[in-house]
Amino acid sequence: MNVLLIGSGGREHALAWKLAQSKKLKKLYIAPGNPGTAQHGTNVDIGVNDIDGLVKFAKEKDVSLAVVGPEDPLAAGAVDAFEASGIKAFGPCKGAAQLEADKAFAKEIMHSNSIPTAESRTFDNFEDAKVYIASRDEAIVVKASGLAKGKGVYVCDDPADGIVIAEKIMVDKIFGEAGDVVVVEDKLLGQEASILAFVDGRSIYVMESSQDHKAIGEGDTGLNTGGMGAYSPAPIVTEAVMDQVVKEILVPTVDGMNRNGTPYKGILYAGIMITQGGPRTLEFNVRFGDPETQPILMRLKSDLLEVMLSVCDGRLDEMSMEWDSRPAVCVVMSSGGYPGDYEKGKVISGLEEAGKLEDVVVFHAGTAEKDGDIVTSGGRVLGVTAVGETIAAAKKKAYEAVDKISFDGAYCRRDIADKAIK
Ligand code: AMP
Ligand code: GLY
Repeated sequence: MNVLLIGSGGREHALAWKLAQSKKLKKLYIAPGNPGTAQHGTNVDIGVNDIDGLVKFAKEKDVSLAVVGPEDPLAAGAVDAFEASGIKAFGPCKGAAQLEADKAFAKEIMHSNSIPTAESRTFDNFEDAKVYIASRDEAIVVKASGLAKGKGVYVCDDPADGIVIAEKIMVDKIFGEAGDVVVVEDKLLGQEASILAFVDGRSIYVMESSQDHKAIGEGDTGLNTGGMGAYSPAPIVTEAVMDQVVKEILVPTVDGMNRNGTPYKGILYAGIMITQGGPRTLEFNVRFGDPETQPILMRLKSDLLEVMLSVCDGRLDEMSMEWDSRPAVCVVMSSGGYPGDYEKGKVISGLEEAGKLEDVVVFHAGTAEKDGDIVTSGGRVLGVTAVGETIAAAKKKAYEAVDKISFDGAYCRRDIADKAIK
């Protein structure tokens, strides 16, 4: 069958790489894709938010399944639009995508279904938020409720800073409408992990655990980014923790979404904090994580396309999935200056040599082709991913590949996966 994959990041290169291995696949189109996805299919010049254009293209090319990578088109109703045209689509409908696109909605689902999470309050006017924050004397977290490209969350160890941030979000509108509503919650302490599951409205299949590295600097210092590296599995997610996540977070969320009239289908990604009192939900994402998808899919042995179809058809309970027991580590190489300003158009060398290493895949994220060269075109440029017998071996291999790649200003953290090795 023909498949249309929507997106252009490292996550989408990993999805394209994996979908291309399916026996069921005839043609893979990626809109708009990147030079990495072009190795596995045909890139199409349609933006991720041009939903009418995407549906029209899918109809013309006899596409049987659309796979929506990023959150923006999901929140805008891309899946609803494909389905209305009789095309299967992998991902939640608009109503269910609120679980990521509207943090106040997500907190409501959590509170009304007794899902463990930080205590929180939701505000739609700054004066009330200010009075509440001023009454707090412990660290708090201030979150713009809407989609803010991963930048809308501020951990404020001094609550007074929270008032300043809330004003920027709600009055100065630094994130536009995404800041009309703000969630203020208690700060949780512990280690974070990402738990991704396939959900078909009813059944849940939990994938292997993973852990992201959000901060730009080694030792988790400096500004937050989209993610500077990830590994799978995350040893901190023991069997007991995973059991708790399934029973206390995933199952009640899927049930709660059904009761709410917004049944959930696609990937349910729970960002959790493993606190001394057990796992707590930090956030839900309604899509594959980036960069978690890169190491997770390197370990998935089963046919991803078949799994996605079973999700769309509501027969996930018939699927069994096989995983490589070996861990995988992904190191993100970014443009110098990211997550602040950075230059683009730097020629990347060594890609071929790095990609030739055994058990290594170099996933493209912010790259472009220019005059026959691959050049940088974004903050996160590459996700260099390796599988190894142990996490330490996978890490060593990933950095061996990183060291073969160069571009002007290239940066990466050197401590990816150290938390799992210690
Ligand atoms: P979110 O988009 O809600 O996951 O927030 C992004 C990041 O902010 C998370 O990955 C955490 O590092 C941090 N964060 C969010 N909520 C909390 C919280 N309640 N306590 C501590 N850190 C948090
Ligand atoms: N890696 C974090 C995210 O995908 O949101």
